[in-house]
Amino acid sequence: MSSLPFDRLPRRLLITGGAGFIGSNFARYWCETAPGDRIVVLDALTYAGNRANLAELELDGRLRLVQGDIGDRALVDRLLQQEQIDTIAHFAAESHVDRSILAPDAFIQTNLVGSFTLLEAFRHHVESLRRPPLFLHVSTDEVYGSLEPEDPPFSETTPYAPNSPYAASKAGSDHLARAYYHTYKLPTIITNCSNNYGPYHFPEKLIPLTCINILLGKPIPVYGDGQNIRDWLYVGDHCQALAIIIRHGQPGENYNIGGNNEVTNLDLVERLCDLMDELAPALPVKPARQLITLVGDRPGHDRRYAINASKMSHELDWRPQVSLAEGLRQTVSWYLTHPDWWRPLLSPEYQAYYQQQYGEKNRLSKP
Ligand code: NAD
Ligand code: TYD
Repeated sequence: MSSLPFDRLPRRLLITGGAGFIGSNFARYWCETAPGDRIVVLDALTYAGNRANLAELELDGRLRLVQGDIGDRALVDRLLQQEQIDTIAHFAAESHVDRSILAPDAFIQTNLVGSFTLLEAFRHHVESLRRPPLFLHVSTDEVYGSLEPEDPPFSETTPYAPNSPYAASKAGSDHLARAYYHTYKLPTIITNCSNNYGPYHFPEKLIPLTCINILLGKPIPVYGDGQNIRDWLYVGDHCQALAIIIRHGQPGENYNIGGNNEVTNLDLVERLCDLMDELAPALPVKPARQLITLVGDRPGHDRRYAINASKMSHELDWRPQVSLAEGLRQTVSWYLTHPDWWRPLLSPEYQAYYQQQYGEKNRLSKP
């Protein structure tokens, strides 16, 4: 937990992508920790955006949700002006690597062109602003590419080497945010975070997909040999890190955020199966590990991600609070108790995606 002095400056905050997984957790976190601030969410409500994620905050007037595209310059200009926004927390993105392989267009459009539009609009907007502005660009560790087993974790000076269209589009937007600081002196900060997990995570991603498939008694698809490694961070810890960076981070800097939890996908999925066996009152297939199925690998699948978050701990006194064991337990419990949240997301569109992604790959083989 940070012991830095609290920055009491009231903010007028625009959260882009605030109806998605991390954005909605962040909106809730900000409403709870800075109740005096004005909070506006701009979200296109794509398949991954869900108004229900913000329902209680919207209902009691703690935030305003505007449905719209970050690439719509006229809308963004109007909103920045009307709400006198001084701080942007930019989460809006197409975020799923597998979809970026199937259809990269939307990734370039939103992540690259949309981020550019937002930066341009904010650059012009702040010329007339009286309060100090900040543009927080929320990015990913995937921009650094893939590590070998013996490599040191990614640091803030690791060269970029994105391998998927998703990672490349995020890398491009990181470079734009950096360039706007250097060229126009727009105060931007870039964060590169490892894999998040927790409540409100869309069903297509590995952890919610595993939880939901166990509850439905469906095969759990694990790509390749299941030995790819990710560094997992509980979403609440990410939100806390971002809040500290907004209050105390240095414009022009980038910060790596990670959980120091390197796990293979197979190990992770096995842990989730065991937690479900323990916590669910009844399961269609038990022990749930029987559902684990190795399927064809993701093209260009990065082998290992790991984050060195020592800059965050040394400079901003942040470190993760939630252990992987505790975070996974909380997450499994949340999916168990929130079928009314995830069931409607398994829509015909989602089923079509699922079929396209997994239909031909479901060659059953046990690890
Ligand atoms: P998500 O897919 O759950 O949510 C993205 C949100 O952005 C959705 O609400 C969607 O409707 C909205 N959106 C998409 N296109 C838009 C557009 N053109 N205009 C306005 N809104 C749009 O994603 P997430 O997992 O919450 O990720 C949020 C951010 O964090 C992304 O920028 C992602 O790159 C980054 N990130 C994610 C992770 C992770 O593990 N999920 C890790 C590190 C960084
Ligand atoms: P994901 O949640 O898509 O995040 P990212 O690709 O951004 O790291 O995937 C996490 C890991 O899980 C990644 O190595 C790919 C793997 N994976 C599977 O093995 N099976 C799946 O069905 C999915 C969606 C992911």
